[in-house]
Amino acid sequence: MEEFKVHFKPQNKSIRVPKGTDLLTAAIKAGVVIAAACGGEGLCGKCKVLIAGTTVLACQTLVESDLLVEVPKGSVESHEAMKHESEDFTKGIISEREKSLKLSPIIRKVYVELSKPTQDDNTDDLERVLRAVEAKIVHARIFTRLSNIKHLSENLRDSVYKVTAVIAYEEGSIEMLALEPGDTTDRLFAFAFDIGTTTVAGQLIDLNSGEILNAHNICIKSKGVDDFKRSGLIEYNRYY
Ligand code: FES
Repeated sequence: MEEFKVHFKPQNKSIRVPKGTDLLTAAIKAGVVIAAACGGEGLCGKCKVLIAGTTVLACQTLVESDLLVEVPKGSVESHEAMKHESEDFTKGIISEREKSLKLSPIIRKVYVELSKPTQDDNTDDLERVLRAVEAKIVHARIFTRLSNIKHLSENLRDSVYKVTAVIAYEEGSIEMLALEPGDTTDRLFAFAFDIGTTTVAGQLIDLNSGEILNAHNICIKSKGVDDFKRSGLIEYNRYY
């Protein structure tokens, strides 16, 4: 496929891209950060650049020849502000207000040692687990899914009736998400995402200590994924 060279200034970065590539994609590939609040939908007007003195939207302008593209200070600055916000998130810079909050994740682990079934106590395995967990968490009723019941009997016997329940608190009820063999309460992690129109940032967090173990962010061009779709996906998959 025919390729053209795009040079961005004042960043002084060049990239070769196939004919028909839009300038916002070319900029991302070249490592040039241009404001793109709508993710390249052509709606926000933030991605202004200059070609031969004419202002165009980078996301709506296709490369049809070699180009010299000038990125105005405003287009870079507004993105830099967003980038810094994201970097703050990624580095886990916690405000004084947040420091005063008590760590209280909705997902927790409860370790239980169950009594084995006997002739006098022939309670079924699921009830045996739920009863023991409920006794440790303010006696709230717990439910679980079929997938957790399928291999429950063998899992209990393999772990000599010593298991850790992973539970999630949700609007007045508690769900047992998984049952792990042995005591795994010291290993409870979460991954938090900050999904923006141009940047996705993530943090791996130790939910026992609140410590941020790792963080990373990447620039994206999220064409076709609007805020509603993103929040819908997050709502639907909130535990998985
Ligand atoms: S108008 Fe180009 S990114 Fe919004």
